[in-house]
Parts: sequence; C-alpha cells; structure tokens
Amino acid sequence: MKILVATEKPFAKVAVEGIRKIVENAGYELALLENFTDVNDFYKAVADADALIVRSDKVTKEVVDAAQQLKIVVRAGAGYDNLDLPACTAKNIVAMNTPGQNSNAVAELAAGMMVYMARNQFTPGTGSELLGKNLGIHAYGNVGKLVAKIAKGFGMNVFAFDPFVSKETMEAEGVTVCATTEELYSKCHYVSLHIPANEQTKKSIGYDLLSKMPKGGTLVNTARKEVINEEELVKVLEERADLKYATDIAAGNQEILNEKFAKRVFATPKKMGAETSEANINAGLASANQIVKLLQTGDTTFQVNK
Ligand code: 3PG
Repeated sequence: MKILVATEKPFAKVAVEGIRKIVENAGYELALLENFTDVNDFYKAVADADALIVRSDKVTKEVVDAAQQLKIVVRAGAGYDNLDLPACTAKNIVAMNTPGQNSNAVAELAAGMMVYMARNQFTPGTGSELLGKNLGIHAYGNVGKLVAKIAKGFGMNVFAFDPFVSKETMEAEGVTVCATTEELYSKCHYVSLHIPANEQTKKSIGYDLLSKMPKGGTLVNTARKEVINEEELVKVLEERADLKYATDIAAGNQEILNEKFAKRVFATPKKMGAETSEANINAGLASANQIVKLLQTGDTTFQVNK
C-alpha cells in the first residue's frame, strides 16, 4: 500500500517523520511530493497511491481520475473546500478531514491579528486596547471556541453566532449568543470569521454586515477569502474610514485594498494560520492514523462524503 503526502506547502519535517513512522509501522510505504508547483507531478504521483494526505492542495476531479487505486484522501486540516467530494464519492473514495487538530494555531493567529490591528500594525501612533471591547465569533466551532477563550483573557466581551451550536453550550462557556449575523456585526468592535467556504457562505460577508459594525470595527479573517464579497468590502472601506480588515488569506483584489486603504488592511504574505510545528504534527499524524484505521478496520470516523 502506498500512502502519498502531496503538499504544495509542506508539513514541518518533524511532522513528516511522525507520519512516516505511523505509515511504516503499519507496513505501508510513504511517498512524498512536497513543494510541488506543477499539477502534472501530482497526477503522476497519485496514479498508484492507495491513500492521500493533502493540506489546502486541490483534489480536483482530474486528480481523482488520475488515481487508479485511491481508497482514501485526508485533508490534514479543517476546511475541505479543496476536495471535490462528488468526484471522490463517484469513485468510492473516502474523504476525511481532521477537525480540531490545527485549531489552536489558527486561534492564536486570529488573536495576534486583533492586537496587530489595534496597534496600527506595529507602526508609531496611538492605538487602542482590546480590553472591554466586544468580540463577535462568527461560527463557534473548534477555532471559534479557542478564540473566545483567548479573548476572555484580554478582557473582551465575547459574543457568538452559530446556528449549529446550541445556545446552552455557548452560554455555558460565557459567551453571549446573538440570534442573527446582523446582531453580531452591529454589536461587535471585532469580528473573527470562522465559517467554512461553501455554497451558502460564499460572498456572504459584505456591505450589509460590515456597514453595521460600530466605529473602529475590525474584521479578522482566518477562514477563507471566498466568504468575503470583495467588491462590497472595497465599497464599505471607502465609505467608512474607521473600518479595518485583516486576513490570513489575501483577497483576490488585495493589491487594490493595499493601495487604497494601506493602514487599514493587512494580509499575511502567505496563509499561515496552521503553520506551526504543533499544528502540523497534530493534523499530519491524525491524518496518517485515520488512514491506517480505515485501511485496517474500515473505520470511517471523520468521513465528510458519507
Ligand atoms: C484548515 O482548513 O485547516 C486551514 O485552513 C489550514 O490550511 P493549510 O493546511 O493549507 O495551512
């Protein structure tokens, strides 16, 4: 059995070593395709793979079609919008993610970005503090929960909107529940985005919500760029000279944003939310373990194309 790790943005070395141990202890062979830039290399490498581990790497229908004996693909991470699920299902390929494994790294980055924006991107001048400000967690999943916990340490008042999490759960964790996104955005000086990118959420964050934010409002996006309506983001930043936007996933129109709103927008040079050795180890090893379990016992926990 050949387990392929195909990563345009590779795992930390220590994580690859851990993956190798798990794979080889199970009697399988590990193949690595790291830093790939040509998708044809991916097609070639996946051709005889039985299992595949990726990060944000796109597992398209072409990739699935190139695979002759693939049984499972694991997205080492939370968001699986990079996997063509119908294509996997059509070929009886189990698709999984590793929920929660890299959440802390993303949550810490989101918190860091709030401080960074509050302090004028660490440039001279008077900034502001997080203490006493309202933070809105848009989707109270694994990452959102951790951001809430960190924010409480800053002395922020934490609000959340998530139709998939019960009011009781959120309240038990000291979070004030908002019934609508409108309520969340109108109450919160900071909003941290943790929604997945899917047909319901794409371009869902735009003028209507952002224009409701209180004075000095800051949107922090460590989720996906696709959930932002980028044209409307430009419009609202033009109208409201007090609003700020920080993202870990550069917008399609990031150059325009940087040019027009230099001091009020920030994008990391390359997506780095899950770029810690801890997150790489957690998600990488979980992926390898999930593959071994599926191949050896048929365990389909974490399957996302059931
Ligand atoms: C995730 O969905 O888990 C994060 O976006 C991490 O993505 P990455 O593995 O490409 O860093």
